[in-house]
Amino acid sequence: MPLLPKTVQPNSGEDHFDKQGFPHFMLKEIYQQPEVVRTCLAHYLNSNPDRPFNLPDRPIPNQIHLLACGTSWHACLIAQHWLEQIAGIPTRVRAASEFVAAPFPPTSNILTIAATQSGETADTLAAVQLARHSQTHLFGITNQPESSLSQIVDRTLLTHAGREIGVAATKTFLTQLLVFYCLTLDFAHQRQQLSGAQMQDAIAKLHALPDHITTLLQQDSAIQTLAQSFATAEHCIVLGRGIQRPIALEGALKLKETTYLHAEGYAAGEFMHGPIALLDARIPVIVLAPAGSVYPDTLANVRKIKANGASVLGIVTAGGEADFDRAIVLPSIDESLSPFLSVIPLQLLAYHLAVLRGLDVDRPRNITKTLTE
Ligand code: AGP
Repeated sequence: MPLLPKTVQPNSGEDHFDKQGFPHFMLKEIYQQPEVVRTCLAHYLNSNPDRPFNLPDRPIPNQIHLLACGTSWHACLIAQHWLEQIAGIPTRVRAASEFVAAPFPPTSNILTIAATQSGETADTLAAVQLARHSQTHLFGITNQPESSLSQIVDRTLLTHAGREIGVAATKTFLTQLLVFYCLTLDFAHQRQQLSGAQMQDAIAKLHALPDHITTLLQQDSAIQTLAQSFATAEHCIVLGRGIQRPIALEGALKLKETTYLHAEGYAAGEFMHGPIALLDARIPVIVLAPAGSVYPDTLANVRKIKANGASVLGIVTAGGEADFDRAIVLPSIDESLSPFLSVIPLQLLAYHLAVLRGLDVDRPRNITKTLTE
């Protein structure tokens, strides 16, 4: 059964609050991702080689603090990797729900960035209010221009994802990543960490993202079939190393909230230090393993996992398939950009498994789209 009606152009023109022929909002929003990435890029990129990003002027901070909850927190964990490894700025991340109990010690010249797609998450707003007392410069990344967050930060960076109705965040996550990545490149430019040629190359790769996502979405039917092999699983492990670790957490969160499967996201290396004892043939393991600097170490972990009898699904780039029992192959991409792609098969897997289990995909039990208290 084709999932995407042939007449549908996701997110064409104004944003419609109907399913546009998709069976659920979550699937519609997953399919809107190429378009929202294009829209978001159009807001943040310009053709001026001396200042290619439309971002507010600001001093270079000594340190960046990132605050958020849930999926937005996962976006911050990836942003931390970029800001430290590409822009060279020390960056700390804390779940906003933990921040009031344990705020960062005040230091000079901090930029605090709060990420919340709704702009209304109570824990994130409370963390921002507290951070304000420490004389920090405050940015907010949100999908809602009129949100409470926008009223209390110095500058708001919008994600331009259009309204997201499914409780499981998908397109808002991808566009949060995009804003963080543009900010990282802008800081790298400001700090002269990248040459002009490297910057142009990075920007060209950003422009290529929507087509890569479209290519990946063409594997939807294969992922739907794959979901059947998870139908009776009670537990599932999702592993990733380096920049893929937050995607492992995010994939597990998507599985938990939409399918009620007990899914654990874990750092692949840390999984060897005890949790591997959990494994047997009944527990499927998903490993995020696109090509890159951490691939050999991830593969060493995979070999140990397979030796314990577990079946391993790899999310890989071309050439990696042979090392796994089953694989989803991503379009080739730089390691630093790989989270933009590797999360998508996990979104689709969570979606199809929830449908297979007869669950209310767009409105999972016990949670609401925005936790305002
Ligand atoms: C995401 O799929 C979840 N529904 C949830 O974790 C969410 O990301 C979290 O509650 C934070 O929401 P926010 O981005 O609106 O602040």
